[in-house]
Amino acid sequence: MDMKKTNLILTLLLISSGVIAQTTVEPAKQIIPEPNIGLSITELLVIALLFFAVVLLVVAVTLFNAFKVMLKEQKDPQPFIKYQKPEQVDYTEWLKLKKSTPNIWTKLLSLKPMEEEKNLEIPHAYDGIKELSNPVPAWFNVLFYGTIIFGAFYLYYYHIGGYGERQDDEYITEMTKADLDKKAFLAKSATKVDEGSIKIDAAQIVNGKGVFDANCIACHGDKGQGLVGPNLTDEFWLHGGSVVDVFKVVKYGVPEKGMVSWQKNLTSLQISEVTNYIMSLKGTNPVGAKAPQGEKYEEKLAIDTANAEIITKN
Ligand code: HEC
Repeated sequence: MDMKKTNLILTLLLISSGVIAQTTVEPAKQIIPEPNIGLSITELLVIALLFFAVVLLVVAVTLFNAFKVMLKEQKDPQPFIKYQKPEQVDYTEWLKLKKSTPNIWTKLLSLKPMEEEKNLEIPHAYDGIKELSNPVPAWFNVLFYGTIIFGAFYLYYYHIGGYGERQDDEYITEMTKADLDKKAFLAKSATKVDEGSIKIDAAQIVNGKGVFDANCIACHGDKGQGLVGPNLTDEFWLHGGSVVDVFKVVKYGVPEKGMVSWQKNLTSLQISEVTNYIMSLKGTNPVGAKAPQGEKYEEKLAIDTANAEIITKN
């Protein structure tokens, strides 16, 4: 009976863990269609009926036992025994009389009291050594039958019923999920440009002119010829003329010299666009161009340093 009870508990545990697994897997479904792990209504019904049947069985067994007692009593009625005051016994005698009641620990290990050792003896002896036939401990049985039950459920869940995802399917699912994540990440980071990823892109020049006209004309002139700020159309630069240099100056500014940092007011994409616009102004020679400031910028060298910068960034 004890064994049956533990089996029942194990079964229920397995069923409930299945239910938990079902609820935790649920959210992933929104991302990609996964093989249906949840139980259908009919299956839930079958489980409920099974559970009900087990409960009925337990009730039936209990009733049966009760009826047995009643029947026994009817066949062979025991007279009501009047309460008799027990005799006073000596403590040492009482100790001997007292049967050791096994606690949970001894039950779990299926230990037998020393007095019963004689019954456990196997009737043979080798070199005078006797063997005891100790029962298999309860914990071992629980584990043993538990794994069998678990195995049966596992087999049904993953191989026969096909509810659970097997390793290879799980791998595919995870890879598709990762792929989607990667695409989402790339889509997001594509608009995020920094000095490590800024590139010459002629397609951005049009938007860049918009950004420049809205923010930079006051100091750099409507054609970038230079006013308060330096001329942006010549080959001379105060802070370097590579695309990375220009991007950095626009992003971080030169506050002490009156050039604002734009990273708070412009998005990284806008900074990239205006940078590309400035790069396109080179050699336009607008009227009223401000006198060159800074050093002449050598394209070749700058590309190398720009590349080096990108490499060190990565
Ligand atoms: C308030 C005036 C002001 C505004 C507005 C301004 N700048 Fe400047 N900018 C300056 C000054 C002044 C310098 C020179 C800094 C120095 O001497 O180091 C400068 C320098 C620069 C440089 C570096 C030039 C070099 O020779 O290295 C670039 C590139 C630049 N600005 C781009 C921009 C862009 C793009 C905008 C608009 C988004 C902008 N600036 C708006 C004042 C301004």
